[in-house]
Amino acid sequence: MTALTLSTAGAATLRADALVVGVAKGPKGPVVAAGAEAVDKAYDGRLAAVLDALGATGAEGETTKLPSPDGLKAPVVLAVGLGPAPDEDESFDEEALRRAAGSAARALHGSKKAAFALPLEDASAVTAVAEGALLGAYAFTSYQGGGKKGAAAKNGGPKLPLAEVTLLGGKPRDKEHKAAVERAIVVAAEVNTARDLINTPPNDLTPAAFASIASATAKEHGLKVQVLDEKALTKGGYGGIMGVGKGSENPPRLVKITYTHPEAEKHLAFVGKGITYDSGGISLKPAGHNETMKCDMSGAAAVFASVVAVARLGLPVNVTGWLALAENMPSGSATRPGDVLRMYSGKTVEVLNTDAEGRLVLGDALTKASEENPDAIVDVATLTGAMVLALGDRTFGIMANDDAFRTAVHEIAEEVGEQSWPMPLPADLRKTMDSPTADIANMGVRMGGGLVAGLFLQEFVGEGITWAHLDIAGPAFHEGAPYGYTPKGGTGSAVRTLVRLAERTATGDLG
Ligand code: BES
Ligand code: MN
Ligand code: ZN
Repeated sequence: MTALTLSTAGAATLRADALVVGVAKGPKGPVVAAGAEAVDKAYDGRLAAVLDALGATGAEGETTKLPSPDGLKAPVVLAVGLGPAPDEDESFDEEALRRAAGSAARALHGSKKAAFALPLEDASAVTAVAEGALLGAYAFTSYQGGGKKGAAAKNGGPKLPLAEVTLLGGKPRDKEHKAAVERAIVVAAEVNTARDLINTPPNDLTPAAFASIASATAKEHGLKVQVLDEKALTKGGYGGIMGVGKGSENPPRLVKITYTHPEAEKHLAFVGKGITYDSGGISLKPAGHNETMKCDMSGAAAVFASVVAVARLGLPVNVTGWLALAENMPSGSATRPGDVLRMYSGKTVEVLNTDAEGRLVLGDALTKASEENPDAIVDVATLTGAMVLALGDRTFGIMANDDAFRTAVHEIAEEVGEQSWPMPLPADLRKTMDSPTADIANMGVRMGGGLVAGLFLQEFVGEGITWAHLDIAGPAFHEGAPYGYTPKGGTGSAVRTLVRLAERTATGDLG
């Protein structure tokens, strides 16, 4: 990953390939943001006028490259739009800074070293800019340029991301600023880990491959890992996970990752949907709906990455991560619409649609996670197309069996710059999953399909356990043009929310 440091060096004298400055959208044209005073001086105080003449407005995401005047060591100045200028005594909001830093890092793909002279008023601005730069610099190039890692650029492949970022104007000796940078580095690295897993093609990222990557990495960070393979899953009665994985040559896995801290008072369980490829199974998805279905393990990727982040940050809270991994394929051995599965909980499920597979693997994992009686369970899943219809492709839905917890998760997501919205679990929809043959069917009415799926999951949460469900089907995988710090492909959705939830739980700040 891109290296990042705080520096007290002056903008004018620092050696770098580019110098990034912020520009806000003022009522009368672009306004140079704080942090760029020395750069503006090198332009004789005319930087805003120069940008205006070039047509720059300071709009969010806008980037303008300028040749440096005499007096600056860096040959290029990159002005990045921060959006509307804040009121007199207000500062830029963190998400505006995060996105601007991300846009700048993307615009500098192919450069080696950049210095960022963005407004860094306090430690949270430092975190935001650092995160934005590290997330924006991300590129998934493992399969390009001849396939050799790092060989991409040499072989005429894509440009490499920024190797080095220096943040100017921070306080490298200040405890809070130091911690802010360290936190940003860990969080961004783990969001990028989730992105890598999501972007890895499904012929390489099978359930077994995911499980062994997770085991190896988790052990490096001192975590305990247990992997149940298909034999253990069959023996253990995990009918949901086995039923989904049955049609594939690549058998399922259930991975448990345990992080404990000696001073922890609370225990969180994170449960992730890890369908390494969702073809729909016998209820096969039509062409046009399966090209991006390698992303169907984004929930498991987010859970894995956030447990590792919590461990790297050494947070005083116990966190257990559960990865429910299976590949949903059609074949002679696949589960048929009409089959009845016996879940780990003992409940029977009539499978009416094999494409509603996420709830089956999660049902088993939720029951298993409940056995440890954690203080709260949060599951993360690319669960329904209905949630994408409801909230679009940048916002995840939050359902819960506890209003206060749902509100808390929503506020936390907001705080870290992840768009989300609370959704209900209307009890009346439960009966639409009544089955004449089994205890429940895996499908109900189409209208409100995201909520129906949530109600199905709720059946598998242990009595009295606080639970929230994040349906990230929209934001998990970005198909449009990159923006801010969001690349094309896997986004790492929900990692930042889970990490902040763990931080808040550790400090007892959750109520
Ligand atoms: N993995 C899909 C949901 C999905 C859709 C994720 C779009 C990302 C983008 C899930 O397994 C699925 O197929 N859900 C069905 C459920 C239906 C058959 C009840 C759906 O949403 O159509
Ligand atoms: Mn499906
Ligand atoms: Zn799926």
